[in-house]
Amino acid sequence: MRLQFGSDRPSGQSLAKLLTSTLLLLTTFDSVVAVKRENFKTCAQSGFCKRNRALADEAVAAGASWDPSYEIDTKSIRLGEGLFRANLEKTVEEGVKVELPIVISFLQNGGARVQVDEKRRQEGKIELRNDSKARKERYNEAAKWALVADPEIDEQADFNEKEGKVEVKWSVWQNDAVIEFKPFGVKFSRGGETHVILNERHLLNVEHWRPKPDGDDKCDSCWEETFGGNTDSKPRGPESIGMDITFPGYTHVYGIPEHASSMKLKETRGGDGQYTEPYRLYNSDVFEYETDSPMTLYGSIPFMQAHKKGFTVGVFWLNAAETWVDVTTRKDKKVTDTQTHWMSESGILDLFVFMGPNSQWLYKYYTELVGTTPIPPMFALGYHQCRWNYVSQDDVKQVDAMMDKFDIPYDVIWLDIEYTDGKAYFTWDPQTFSDPASMVSNLDYHKRKLVAIIDPHIKREQKDYTVVKELVDKSLAVKNKDGKDYDGWCWPGSSHWVDCFNVKAQDWWKAQFKFDKFKGTADNVHIWNDMNEPSVFNGPETTMPKDNIHHGDWEHRDVHNLYGMTFHEATYAAIKERNPKKPTRPFVLTRAFFAGSQRTAAMWTGDNEAKWEHLAQAVPMLLSQGIAGMPFAGADVGGFFGNPSKELLTRWYQAGAFYPFFRAHAHIDAKRREPYLVGEPYVSIIREAIKLRYSLLPALYTSFHRASWEGMPILRPMFLMFPDDEEALTIDDQFFFGDTGIIVKPVVEEGATTTKIWIPDDGIYYDYFDYTIQIGQGWGTINSPIEQIPILMRGGHIFPRKDRPRRSAELMKDDPYTIVIALSRVGAAAGVLYVDDGETFDYQNGQFLHKSFVYQSNKLTSKIVNNDPAKAKPYLKSISHVFVERVIIVGLPEGAVKEKKAKVTVGSKSWEAEIEFYEEHVGRASFAIVKNPKVPIGEEFEIELL
Ligand code: GLC
Repeated sequence: MRLQFGSDRPSGQSLAKLLTSTLLLLTTFDSVVAVKRENFKTCAQSGFCKRNRALADEAVAAGASWDPSYEIDTKSIRLGEGLFRANLEKTVEEGVKVELPIVISFLQNGGARVQVDEKRRQEGKIELRNDSKARKERYNEAAKWALVADPEIDEQADFNEKEGKVEVKWSVWQNDAVIEFKPFGVKFSRGGETHVILNERHLLNVEHWRPKPDGDDKCDSCWEETFGGNTDSKPRGPESIGMDITFPGYTHVYGIPEHASSMKLKETRGGDGQYTEPYRLYNSDVFEYETDSPMTLYGSIPFMQAHKKGFTVGVFWLNAAETWVDVTTRKDKKVTDTQTHWMSESGILDLFVFMGPNSQWLYKYYTELVGTTPIPPMFALGYHQCRWNYVSQDDVKQVDAMMDKFDIPYDVIWLDIEYTDGKAYFTWDPQTFSDPASMVSNLDYHKRKLVAIIDPHIKREQKDYTVVKELVDKSLAVKNKDGKDYDGWCWPGSSHWVDCFNVKAQDWWKAQFKFDKFKGTADNVHIWNDMNEPSVFNGPETTMPKDNIHHGDWEHRDVHNLYGMTFHEATYAAIKERNPKKPTRPFVLTRAFFAGSQRTAAMWTGDNEAKWEHLAQAVPMLLSQGIAGMPFAGADVGGFFGNPSKELLTRWYQAGAFYPFFRAHAHIDAKRREPYLVGEPYVSIIREAIKLRYSLLPALYTSFHRASWEGMPILRPMFLMFPDDEEALTIDDQFFFGDTGIIVKPVVEEGATTTKIWIPDDGIYYDYFDYTIQIGQGWGTINSPIEQIPILMRGGHIFPRKDRPRRSAELMKDDPYTIVIALSRVGAAAGVLYVDDGETFDYQNGQFLHKSFVYQSNKLTSKIVNNDPAKAKPYLKSISHVFVERVIIVGLPEGAVKEKKAKVTVGSKSWEAEIEFYEEHVGRASFAIVKNPKVPIGEEFEIELL
């Protein structure tokens, strides 16, 4: 959230007053909220976007006579060791050429990396205007931040130089590429079918350095750019890069979050129901953002997937500057192609192409590059209770007690900015939080955690505030274009911003979290990094001026979209290192993000509104996060701005119970809405939704384990599981929940009592709660009165549960498991369980249990599938007292249960367990419950129905 300033900016003291009075004014929220579009640029107001789009228009208008000016200098070509190296030449005017070194690396994973730089700038042979202190090179360090490993090059790639082109064959996938010299372009194919074409429309555009011409220049936005009263001095002049990427035969593209838009990306050049603006990626604090819009939001991941029946490919445009992406389609005879046009303000061109062949491979390859989300601490998957603000330590205590009184589980209570002493981070308000240590230890006693907010703006002008003093003395803050500490406005008023591009700043930042520095904190305190786009209330587009300077003399323009990530990475490291005697897994929530953020933080979708359309918007947004490799994501349950009706709040909890990150949050001006305040029947319904979440924690945790090694999303879109189902390709209001085979369709309409759900195949599906059978591919209708969440279990899956609700996740640690088996039509099913201590890093040392479950011929077999079971012994011993308390088998074939008994076998020993059996009954499947089979979860076992 940010305040809107007019031309008169308030002073430090009056800011607080203004805040209070603004908040008071906003009591009739619903009628006043609306995004201030005029505060953010349209493409036409962003010089380089306008220029690149104009180029695209010129190309269309010129048709066949379009004269692309980029070609490979054939004399410069060097082939071998998996690389194509050459000079790409841009003809500026007759006889004048600009040299752009290009490297195309052919990768073992079947993909490729294309890098284009500008020679003159590599050599530093340019002049900067306005006495700028910035670097002369194009920014080439985004990879340093985003990638965890260099991509592995296929040194065996076979190059074949021909007239006007080079043909390449490489990788175990036997992919083919053709690099055309004049005009320059690259086609990527497999088995004769082309999947990705670079520069097919010849929109490649590298704005090369040139001196500012004397006198009037036609290019009004090239040398200076003014927006909203702020002028960007642009010391290097125009320097954008743009290129078109075509996906021939593909009609669906996904990804490039963060936008409040559909999962399937829309076209951006007009048309029925389409957008007229490109998708923008420029991390921004967009006040009261609107739904169904390509406007930029808080985070950016420039990774896109294109999908068609039988194939999925992807592209990763590794650039941290302001970026816009146009999406259009071209229909030619029976084939539709998706055409995209990528435009970034500065930096080198660094593009990865992933050649599928399907989504799962794509995740594997993409996350091998940028890393996965690690297995979170178990508590972080529980329910989080937040608002702006819990106003005192007594308030915290009270909420904690009330949650218990109303029997509502929760794991974490949150403190927003008001806990600080005047918004100076690492301090506590002496009046309201006089004894944070006992508040924190009280929470610990209940096995609960605290998350406290720490933002990147550091308050100036606070007496005895050592944090700002050190920041300035050690010169660790972001600088303005004149090399002075940049000074902008945020919650505390006048502030500096820590510059975590600097290793010294990271180290200093880490030190701030030591228990003796951030007094009152303990192991159960974790951190929320907000406003890290960075949000600057009086800055251009609510952020920093682009000509600010970061460590290494890079302009802010070059690194804008990375800033938030550098900050939350430093915070993560700080929490990890603050207690060397007992390192536990940190939990950090971030609002701003970039590719790679998933390694150290969860995200949430920022300041949504208490409106039904925002509830509906959350699922497509969370799906897009998963598609882009950052699955640990949530949306403010209840809606941040405004006051939800009881029905909306209840429906939001029912949806939120399935968000990978499940937190309720509310604006300081919203009425209190802790779940126990809602009144019946809503309290009970919300309690049930939260308890459902807790019972599914073992399954959710198992899915996070999968995400941590293969990058698979937690909320899985229909198309991911059924990639050949045409109908499924656009469905973004229901999802599969991890590996469980559970489909969830959150209710997002007021007053709904039934809900339509897409059944993607001809398998058998069971209602989660009463086992009613749903069959037949197509749209089914299920009852969804307010107390019911539409959830189906797909036959063929097995998932673990814990059915004894407790006050928090940690208290469930030793609870027994329920194994749920939803049988397929042929009476079979399979599933997995992953579990570890949920807290430390010991799992990295083999201390976990990974189990498979297979059910067939009336027998459940569970095996340990740890890659090194011997190593796991200490952990397995530590859980030897954790048992399976029941096995529920749904959809039994006739005659499966004869004796109402089960034979349980562990090693050479066998015994019997009782079975409760329920026959099929008016549409409800038959089911059996094996009661207390007395098997420890850590053992291999068989349970056979007799
Ligand atoms: C921003 C955050 C919001 C938080 C507020 C105060 O608006 O998005 O979640 O409550 O700042 O810190």
